[in-house]
Amino acid sequence: MPKPYTPNDKWSQRAAAEGYRARSVYKLMELDERFGLLKPGMTVLDLGAAPGSWLQYTSQQIGPEGRAIGLDLAPIEPIGKNVETLTQDITDLGAIDRILQERSIKQVDLILSDIAPNTSGIKDVDQWRSVELNQSAVAIAEKWLKPGGRCVLKIFRGADFDEFLGQLKRTLRDVRIVTVKASRNRSREVYLVMKK
Ligand SMILES: C[S@@+](CC[C@H](N)C(=O)[O-])C[C@H]1O[C@@H](n2cnc3c(N)ncnc32)[C@H](O)[C@@H]1O
Repeated sequence: MPKPYTPNDKWSQRAAAEGYRARSVYKLMELDERFGLLKPGMTVLDLGAAPGSWLQYTSQQIGPEGRAIGLDLAPIEPIGKNVETLTQDITDLGAIDRILQERSIKQVDLILSDIAPNTSGIKDVDQWRSVELNQSAVAIAEKWLKPGGRCVLKIFRGADFDEFLGQLKRTLRDVRIVTVKASRNRSREVYLVMKK
């Protein structure tokens, strides 16, 4: 039997104690430790970034020479000088192009996406929405990620997962399916770590 959902588990308590906005920061930390994702000076795009814990960690890792842009439907409180946050639907690909072009960004070194749809409670609907969001993230990576750059996507495993994975492997390579310790026990989420 999976453990019941605990709203204030050890990860949430640790996040509060360490000044992070969400427990999900420990997922990115684990992925970074395993794959060496974040380096000083990088330009990083974070999709579905609110409330901003991944951006907080990213800001620390990329340092003053780095630059991060965080996008979400929800506004994000300011993070730091090297982070810009915008209220933006990531499925509007034309708007993403404009945002990056207006900032004279030619390509990004790393794309992070912890994006999740508002859950309906209906398993198949939630999984399909997660796939749809990830299709937009992949389109952004195809256009804006530098060759050799890494992309990290969160997705809910379900009926459409294998088909999505097949699509992904046509344009991105070295796709790894990763589970992380800080994911909730009941969650079907996995992270896909890949290269362009
Ligand atoms: C799990 S939260 C991200 C947590 C974040 N990584 C952090 O550490 O604070 C998922 C986010 O995806 C966002 N989201 C869902 N659909 C979106 C869309 N179409 N465009 C932009 N953001 C979206 C939600 O608003 C939510 O804030």
